[in-house]
Amino acid sequence: MKRLVVLISGRGSNLRALVQACAAECWPAAVVAVIADRPQAEGLAFAREQGIAAEVVDARACASRAAFDAALADAVDAHAPDLVLLAGFMRILADDFVRRYEGRMLNVHPSLLPAFPGLHPHRRALEAGCKIAGATVHFVTPTLDHGPIVIQAAVPVRADDTEATLAARVLEREHVIYPRAVRWAVEGRLRWRDGVVDHVDGAEQGLL
Ligand code: GRF
Repeated sequence: MKRLVVLISGRGSNLRALVQACAAECWPAAVVAVIADRPQAEGLAFAREQGIAAEVVDARACASRAAFDAALADAVDAHAPDLVLLAGFMRILADDFVRRYEGRMLNVHPSLLPAFPGLHPHRRALEAGCKIAGATVHFVTPTLDHGPIVIQAAVPVRADDTEATLAARVLEREHVIYPRAVRWAVEGRLRWRDGVVDHVDGAEQGLL
């Protein structure tokens, strides 16, 4: 049974998608803890309802960035995770922490990386006049939103889209690709070579 720890900052809809897929598809895995960087993170309530350990490492209560990084690393390590899953976690992780979990830490980002890493990807996609947008699940490396890509899904950008309507369309696809990627990782179906991640059985890694 693989131990999954999910880090969140807010709503937690990707957390929910992961927990539901894990149960519905009987993954040989369990979400053993959800850790948020803010006590107000709405996803904590869902975790508690599910009987999952829900903890807060409050970034605002930490005296420094280094203190937060250390407290977060201790909280994660305490659950001995096989995989660490960033699901709307809005903080940049310390390099040491990323290296400790390299190859075992995934993130979902609401753009077709390497386009629009960082904040406000939907707004930036609209401003750039993109006709296609999407979401990416990638392994986490020290450079923000730049790790090797596991799976991507594309969505159309409509002429009347706002940031909110585009974000909603992309989010639906996040809820498909993140569980799929995590399942592959749990089952050991991903191979990372020369900065590129392949599925060992050739499963579709680009959804149109
Ligand atoms: C998602 O769009 C995720 O890709 C981004 O922040 C959002 C979090 O949503 N990083 P939720 O908390 O999973 O509902």
